[in-house]
Amino acid sequence: MNIQKTVHAGNNRMKKTRNNEKYKVGKNVQGKDMEIDVAFFSGKERGENADNLAAVKTEKTIKPVNGISAVILAAGKGTRMKSDKTKVLHEVSGKPMLAHVIDACLEAQVSDITVVAGANMQQLKSFAAARYNGRNIGFVLQKEQLGTADAVSSVIKAKIPLKDGVMILSGDTPLITADTVGFLIKMFTKKSDGGIIGVSFAENPAGYGRIVRNSEDYVMRIVEDKDADDREKTIKVINGGIYIIRKDSLDRNLGKIKVNKAKGEYYLTDIAALMYAEDRPLIPVDVPYRELAGVNSRAQLAEAAKIRNKKVLEKLSENGITIVDFDTVYIEEGVEIGADTTVHPFTVIKAGVKIGKGCSIGPSAHLRQGAVIGNNCKIGNFVEVKNSIIGNNTNVAHLSYIGDSEIGSNVNIGAGTITANYDGVKKNKTVILDGAYVGSNSVFVAPVKIGKNSVIGAGSVITENVPDDSLAIARPRQETKTGWVKNRRKTK
Ligand code: UD1
Ligand code: CA
Repeated sequence: MNIQKTVHAGNNRMKKTRNNEKYKVGKNVQGKDMEIDVAFFSGKERGENADNLAAVKTEKTIKPVNGISAVILAAGKGTRMKSDKTKVLHEVSGKPMLAHVIDACLEAQVSDITVVAGANMQQLKSFAAARYNGRNIGFVLQKEQLGTADAVSSVIKAKIPLKDGVMILSGDTPLITADTVGFLIKMFTKKSDGGIIGVSFAENPAGYGRIVRNSEDYVMRIVEDKDADDREKTIKVINGGIYIIRKDSLDRNLGKIKVNKAKGEYYLTDIAALMYAEDRPLIPVDVPYRELAGVNSRAQLAEAAKIRNKKVLEKLSENGITIVDFDTVYIEEGVEIGADTTVHPFTVIKAGVKIGKGCSIGPSAHLRQGAVIGNNCKIGNFVEVKNSIIGNNTNVAHLSYIGDSEIGSNVNIGAGTITANYDGVKKNKTVILDGAYVGSNSVFVAPVKIGKNSVIGAGSVITENVPDDSLAIARPRQETKTGWVKNRRKTK
């Protein structure tokens, strides 16, 4: 056996971070910090000291790699989802799982992407056309779902021109990050003449393939959960289902994989033993467990969403935003929030929303697509904002719906104000200029425009434009009949 030791995610000296839950493990390909969950290293199996993972020495001459192609497996039926929608299009953090995987590849500069589809081909193609219009994402049909090895074979058989390194991922692992993809590529390119495999230490490894290593840590074989004997079941290093394998190794070995009799499928995991036998074994690379979580059911989808949400909230917190309660605030990826803004509990903020500095959002606010909020605004409880621009120092403090609107700065929107933006046929715009004061429970029947510094009387139904500096009251005048009740009593 050649001398190439296990590669850990991070070949620099490791530093403990403050909270002790994560280790900084040096820079990844793009020069960003990489972190690894300490849980992995708490595993006794590895028998190594987490503080002492030295750089891996490669004494083999590695043939240079001429590019990486990604193959994303997505043909599986996903029966456990019990859905008309194919599994990989179910959303995590407002984005289909498959898009998370594709984006991680693209962000790590892997642009040659082939997706293996089955009966879901049409659904996947329309998804890609809508989302990646113009970007070339290839599709290959796997006619029958005969297993992960067969899925990869279908790409080879379709004669898709693959580069030297073939990265194989699953469409149902939405938590994988570009950092990790980049790191795996770096390790593959530098260390391996066969391939690498993303592995992790799992406290509860049930359901995952187990990694069997030799004394030098090379992968000897992978045993699927169902096929594992009692001893193998105790292995806590799991197969994360992400691999980079040299194209020539796939060409030589895929055809040798035999059908798994118990399941009637061809397992890609069986390639590990074949690669070990030809002395070009898979090298395990540690990947944070939470990035590998595979989604097979709706409960696991919710778990994945929770993890992704936590990451988003952590990142915002690091940037100076107060998230009052991590358990009830849901913020999708791709939301911009300025420093010193506070997001109160039970608030939902969708992708693409922008919020300025020093705002107070929620509790129980719902900011939907196209909401752009200025600085020092208050968007209070039970307020929904959609496709609207709100200027600086403006308050929409209670029980309002602001849709398709443009609201200036220093505007006060009274409790219960609604923009009636939909006339049953199309959406219409409400414009409220700077300094306007809107009394409670007003309705703006769009299209309508309110001038600067104007005042709207409470309870108004505004159907016509209001010029600058004016008062508009649009409600039936109050009629008070003094003594009416007493008089009624007398006549009875
Ligand atoms: C697989 C691995 C397991 C690993 C786990 C990580 C195998 C045999 N097992 O198990 O070791 O721990 O992933 O999550 O590979 N697919 C196809 N065509 C097929 C079958 C599957 O495209 O014929 C796709 C699925 O859509 C899915 C991916 O391949 O995206 C993985 O298949 P899945 O059935 O979920 O494998 P696991 O049982 O999770
Ligand atoms: Ca899976």
